[in-house]
Amino acid sequence: MVNMTKLLGHKVAFLITSNIHKFSEARRVLGKFGIATAMLKKVQKTEIQNDKITIIAKTSAMEAFEKCNLPSVVEDAGLFIEALKNFPGPYSSYIFKTIGNRGILRLMEDVVNREAKFRSVVAFFDQSVDESKCFIGEVEGEIVEEWRGMQGFGFDPIFRPLSFEKTFAEMTIQEKNLCSHRSIAFQKFAKWFVQKP
Ligand code: IMP
Repeated sequence: MVNMTKLLGHKVAFLITSNIHKFSEARRVLGKFGIATAMLKKVQKTEIQNDKITIIAKTSAMEAFEKCNLPSVVEDAGLFIEALKNFPGPYSSYIFKTIGNRGILRLMEDVVNREAKFRSVVAFFDQSVDESKCFIGEVEGEIVEEWRGMQGFGFDPIFRPLSFEKTFAEMTIQEKNLCSHRSIAFQKFAKWFVQKP
């Protein structure tokens, strides 16, 4: 069987996503390890209901491999807000689509503890592994009082990583990649992937 993780001598990661921001962030990280990234956005993912993003990412990577027969990389992320008992967590996508950043800021009105973290899970599946390989990245930070910045996507305008002045939405991709959950998870994946035969 052709080893599809290697094309014309290059390692290639097939990232299943329709989110161009995710793709752009991941591509830059993987590029530093000499890995080319292909975006596969027409692979329908079933929205699995689970309270663990790891399970969601693992299952999605297996499903994607079954559908497209290519070594598949799926990344799932979530925002966990301490004062809201780690809400929205695995429901981040739904919450973003429904109440959005304004809704989160409203829920956080007058809340003193603003600690929050992003978690990213990168899952890889192909015929060479028994179950999806997972790589996790986390970044601690806080929910700011007011929407700040125009770049990025999702909750970027309301999340400021610890030790940084800017919210994710005030950062360039390069700056965000210095500290983001996604960048940490993709770096772990890349170190494993470049060694993979
Ligand atoms: P997904 O399921 O991994 O696409 O992420 C769930 C939700 O979290 C999405 O709807 C995004 O709005 C949000 N999200 C994921 N990653 C990020 C990020 O890096 N910055 C801001 N929001 C994010």
